[in-house]
Amino acid sequence: MRISVTIDSDLLKRFDQTINKKKYENRSKAFRDLVTNFLIEEEWQSLTTKVIGFVTLLYNHDTKRITEKITDIQHEMSKNIISTMHIHVDRHNCVEMIAIRGLPHELTQISDRLISLKGVKHGKLVISSIENDRD
Ligand code: NI
Repeated sequence: MRISVTIDSDLLKRFDQTINKKKYENRSKAFRDLVTNFLIEEEWQSLTTKVIGFVTLLYNHDTKRITEKITDIQHEMSKNIISTMHIHVDRHNCVEMIAIRGLPHELTQISDRLISLKGVKHGKLVISSIENDRD
């Protein structure tokens, strides 16, 4: 089907630059891939199978109470937290990698809370595997 889309010119310019970098031959293919990824992500959220994932946080530990807040959330969610690795990157920056298990929407909720904390410069949730009860 052909559809027409209204989009801000600045956003379209950035989209075109990015799809050129990714070697897409046209916008339609890039758009279809985006829609597919969006739908897959939504389907993930409704899964009732437990998964394991990692939240990676880069933050400035000078930000008021940030270390405490990150620790508090992990204690509160201790049934979902498997383990944590902390890296002191330089004088101010820390990376925390937190392994978590649970339903996809639980992982998303926990990572959203962590990533939205003031002082977190970058954060990402990667869902790595599905827990298999048969093994
Ligand atoms: Ni540190």
